[in-house]
Amino acid sequence: MVTLTIRIQPMLKRLGLVHGTAVLAALLSLQVAQAQAPAAPSPAFPGWAYPVNPPAVPFDDKKLQRAPGSKKRFTQAQIEDNFTPPDWHPEDHPALPDVVAVGRKPAVSACMKCHLTNGGGHPGSSDLAGLSVGYIQQQMAAFRDGNRTGGRATPMIPISKAINEEEILAAARYYSSLPPQPAGWRTIKEGDRVPVSFIHTGGMRLPSPGGHKEPLGDRIIELPQNAEHVELRDSRAGFWSTAPKGSFKKGEKLVKEVGGKTIACATCHGPDLNGLVDVPGLLGRSPLYIYRQLNDIKIGARKGGTVALMQPVVANLDEGDMLAIAAYLTSQKPKHKS
Ligand code: HEC
Ligand code: HEC
Repeated sequence: MVTLTIRIQPMLKRLGLVHGTAVLAALLSLQVAQAQAPAAPSPAFPGWAYPVNPPAVPFDDKKLQRAPGSKKRFTQAQIEDNFTPPDWHPEDHPALPDVVAVGRKPAVSACMKCHLTNGGGHPGSSDLAGLSVGYIQQQMAAFRDGNRTGGRATPMIPISKAINEEEILAAARYYSSLPPQPAGWRTIKEGDRVPVSFIHTGGMRLPSPGGHKEPLGDRIIELPQNAEHVELRDSRAGFWSTAPKGSFKKGEKLVKEVGGKTIACATCHGPDLNGLVDVPGLLGRSPLYIYRQLNDIKIGARKGGTVALMQPVVANLDEGDMLAIAAYLTSQKPKHKS
């Protein structure tokens, strides 16, 4: 226990959490002491949370696509190109740095292709809006240094190896300055049946034709609110998820309880879970993304630096616990940082 406290204190200091460090460390020691033996390891990358991209196919480069409320036109080939993603609504966001808008050939793909101009991201990538500049910089280093190797980290690895410090800073400042998505952009409800679905280009799950339903089982299914709109990579096109019944209540207990199966998240992620210094905010994000991170940390596919602080948090959580936590956190509305 003493060893753990000693290990944790410098890390809290690095994060800027100097005030109350002693209290935090004491609280952590207490909670870690109360935690039980680790649960059995889970299958590495469950398919519902880690969509596997189907083989790439050539995209139509003739037909001009339109998005609601935009006068712009792009072909699907342009939309899917790593260096020409569409900015359908320039009026919706601040000026885009080049690295976000067009990237740099051959390996720095334009960030907005996957993370969108609003930083909302797609369920197969990640939302970036409002993360701190320091946190984004740390994550780019983590991908580069082999500390983030989870099943969906693949696109970030070549980018992180080719990008330079100025580009990282420009992208980080841009995404950090953005507010959370408007209410309704990402919704989640509990249920037990979901549309039958399949994984399309880029790892996007879409409803299968025919409108049939199937049992949800032990999964969270996140789908576009409008499949055609999302396929245009339009930042105005949002998502809805279904989580198993009882997830929100179970997740809330795990997130808030002191001395339970895990460590209360507010200890480090801020009293309202909107983030604290360089510890990221957790609310209103894709449930698939949150689940992947908890799982990656648990199985050691995300490690290094301050990730050590998260290891005791996930040590005793099983798949059902992580799923419930992800569902609950998504159901909570993030706050715009002042
Ligand atoms: C081809 C798609 C793609 C492009 C382009 C892309 N990313 Fe990512 N990014 C991803 C995926 C997928 C993940 C999530 C990995 C996971 O689930 O572990 C991710 C995650 C991240 C994260 C981690 C977020 C967090 O909360 O820890 C950061 C930071 C990030 N990307 C920054 C960037 C920047 C900056 C650029 C542009 C230079 C960029 N990305 C371009 C696909 C992409
Ligand atoms: C002891 C401090 C501490 C506690 C307690 C803690 N976290 Fe974390 N968490 C961190 C730090 C630090 C990071 C950033 C790690 C890094 O550098 O990549 C993090 C990262 C995360 C991430 C990844 C976010 C992203 O953008 O990729 C998730 C998800 C997460 N924590 C969830 C939780 C949940 C859920 C709880 C409570 C059950 C919790 N954390 C409790 C310190 C903590």
